Amino acid sequence: MSAREIVVLDDADQVAAAGAERFTAACERAIAKNGARGTFRVALAGGSTPRAMYVKLTGSPFCERIDWARVEIFFGDERCVPPDHADSNFRMAREALLDHVPLDAKHVHRVEGEKDPEAAARAYEAILPERIDLVLLGMGPDGHTASLFPGTPAIAERARRAMAVYVEKLKSWRVTLTAPVLSAAEEVVVMTVGDEKADALALALEGPDGAVPIQLVKPRRMTWLIDRAAAKKLARV
Ligand code: 6PG
Repeated sequence: MSAREIVVLDDADQVAAAGAERFTAACERAIAKNGARGTFRVALAGGSTPRAMYVKLTGSPFCERIDWARVEIFFGDERCVPPDHADSNFRMAREALLDHVPLDAKHVHRVEGEKDPEAAARAYEAILPERIDLVLLGMGPDGHTASLFPGTPAIAERARRAMAVYVEKLKSWRVTLTAPVLSAAEEVVVMTVGDEKADALALALEGPDGAVPIQLVKPRRMTWLIDRAAAKKLARV
């Protein structure tokens, strides 16, 4: 049985603050559950929305609540570019969060976007843990999440845990975790803001199954943190 919570907030800043609180609480839960050996395994979202939340994690009250030495960082997807490229999700996370908190560098597992996409996907698959405690996701205006884009083979993939996918409309390669891995997470938090997401969000939350790719993600616990602009086409909130 999966639990779904939809939280509508006034604006993007409140979504970022709520996301930081969920991240911190999930971290505290995971470490407490696993005791002395406890680690918190989180897959970060790319794109632009999560950046504000990552910055909040570097400050009070969140930073001091998080036992960073026990945090392991993964990525839900990556653009196939070098780690210092402007489009790199790793670079965005490094600049907003990873460089500003006392993480053990050995616990940061980036996708090697500079490599051949299939080789990078295979290498990433090999280091993925059995269970990720928290997956952070965003959603595009077409209802994609991570790099599960409509019309790509990634949508139907159920065997691979990470895969390379060519996204025609972006004319670029991506490496993405697949729907089964995202759905196996203990918890998923989706942050979605802005008018341009309203149509896809209505389909994701109130449309028929299969309407948009993000519906493929069915974890035990899924929280949607959305602002009023993105929520404006929802009939039931
Ligand atoms: C990426 C993300 C992607 C993102 C959505 C929303 O690599 O771009 O993984 O799935 O979450 O495209 O992006 P924004 O937050 O920038 O709207």
